[in-house]
Amino acid sequence: MRFRPVRPGDAARLARFDARVFGPDAWPLAVWQQAVEAPGQLYLLVESEPEPPQTAGEVIALGGVGFGPEAEILTIAVAEQARERGIGGELLSELIAAAWAEGAEAIFLEVRAKGEEAQRLYQRAGFTVVGRRKNYYSDDDALIMKLEPSASAERKQTNER
Ligand SMILES: CC(C)(COP(=O)(O)OP(=O)(O)OC[C@H]1O[C@@H](n2cnc3c(N)ncnc32)[C@H](O)[C@@H]1OP(=O)(O)O)[C@@H](O)C(=O)NCCC(=O)NCCS
Repeated sequence: MRFRPVRPGDAARLARFDARVFGPDAWPLAVWQQAVEAPGQLYLLVESEPEPPQTAGEVIALGGVGFGPEAEILTIAVAEQARERGIGGELLSELIAAAWAEGAEAIFLEVRAKGEEAQRLYQRAGFTVVGRRKNYYSDDDALIMKLEPSASAERKQTNER
């Protein structure tokens, strides 16, 4: 799977992809225009093979992480037709490795309390639930999950190098 950092010219496609996956909870274009250039963050996307070749491929996955001692997974999404092939897991792994490489001491995220698929993905990576934000979303609570270096396969690999 090939991931590449997003570029300023990607903002409109990212906003469309985000809206397809998250509907009313998606970020508006203006937020994506800032996100693609914001310092201290990394957004990675996966594209399908473009057809014809000189055009842009379709965005099939998108994830982001904010760096710092307490890093944060900002978003992760895979197009519906491309799910359950390991793309989400690989993307999360890349974001986690980047956060450790940038000096994170722990990684946090918020996930819908009803979002069981996403919670399983995060649990597989070693995240555990550490809190709950009531009514964080218009129709749901958020669970706060945390990854400690000792629970992270990506961190163990880094230490062995
Ligand atoms: C959550 C999400 C990112 C997962 O993406 P994904 O690409 O399907 O993730 P993976 O393929 O790595 O894992 C999903 C499941 O497929 C399984 N899987 C992975 N590769 C597989 C393969 N080759 N064959 C069969 N199953 C496979 C995984 O074991 C996992 O199973 P589980 O959920 O029972 O544990 C995706 O469902 C999504 O975009 N959801 C909507 C947006 C969302 O909720 N994002 C999180 C916001 S906090």
